[in-house]
Amino acid sequence: MTNLTDSMDLEHTLEELERAAPARVAGAVDLDSLSNLEAELTGKRSPIAEARRGIGKADPEQRKVIGVRIKEAADRIQALVDGRRIELEHAAEAQLLVDDHVDMTLDRYRLPSGSQHLLTTTMQEVSDIFLGLGYRIADGPEIETTWYNFDALNTPPEHPSRSESDTFYIDWAEGPNDVLLRAHTSPMQVRYMESHEPPVYVVVPGRVFRSDTFDATHSPVFHQIEGLAVDENLSFTDLKGTLAHFAREFFGPGREVRLLPHFFPFTEPSAEMFVSCFACDGSGCRVCSSTGWIELMGCGMVDPNVLTAVGYDPDAVSGFAFGMGVERLAQVRHGVTDIRHLYENDVRTLRQFR
Ligand code: DAH
Repeated sequence: MTNLTDSMDLEHTLEELERAAPARVAGAVDLDSLSNLEAELTGKRSPIAEARRGIGKADPEQRKVIGVRIKEAADRIQALVDGRRIELEHAAEAQLLVDDHVDMTLDRYRLPSGSQHLLTTTMQEVSDIFLGLGYRIADGPEIETTWYNFDALNTPPEHPSRSESDTFYIDWAEGPNDVLLRAHTSPMQVRYMESHEPPVYVVVPGRVFRSDTFDATHSPVFHQIEGLAVDENLSFTDLKGTLAHFAREFFGPGREVRLLPHFFPFTEPSAEMFVSCFACDGSGCRVCSSTGWIELMGCGMVDPNVLTAVGYDPDAVSGFAFGMGVERLAQVRHGVTDIRHLYENDVRTLRQFR
């Protein structure tokens, strides 16, 4: 064994260690083998430790020089080990990140997204048009009394729409407080006027019920949008202008509006409103059954009896009202020929109106 107290031998040993150390340290492939190597190079049984132990045997005047030289070699080797340790720790951390990687964006179960139903969209579009004119939106109860559904709307007791073959009655009460499923949205005219002072500008979208058989053109449940305007000096021209504006917003510019005389108990005069066919511009086609006109809604000037029933003064205010079927609007505009398509919830139908 080398005699480390001999300073020539010692220097040789230290140089040899320093020369070989970089490659050996770099060759440590993980933290464990680096620790083993560190023990071998600088630990208790290492040549460095042995050299330290030999310092005492050296000449007293040489001890300091030898000590400094040993420390220098030990520091160099330790620096190499420390540097490699940092490298290996970083590598281990990076490997951990790779091993623990979870892809949060993985979307194996992609649920199909739904969309709004055509009837909802249609009600919103119509409401928006009237919001733009300063109207408010209201909604009312689907279960009504005969008073609101008929009597307050100037509908006499013998009117055919009051019969059980037309209206769904509920066995809750008898007589004038009969309870029913509202047959139209018009009762909200009365409810709204009862709770608001004029001027009134309101539209009421909602569900209505009639004892009809479910077929291509009828459904016992459908939707209407009611409109009501009451103010000083409202006249038939205001009604016509309002509905023409609505028709042009909904079906496109250039639509013409035609009002034909009709009868409703709660309006006087009453009319049926037609819009010139948006598909053929009035020349006649399948959409308008060759007439050039599409019937859109009932309307008229609010009957003074209705104003009186809610406590308004028919000499001080006047008004107009209108009521349209939502299914009809949607069907006409989108060419839906069978009303049942709107209720069957067949996704092939629904997807067409996203
Ligand atoms: N309520 C009527 C119906 O269901 C529609 C209607 C006609 C509403 C004339 C009105 C109106 O407000 O003025 O057939």
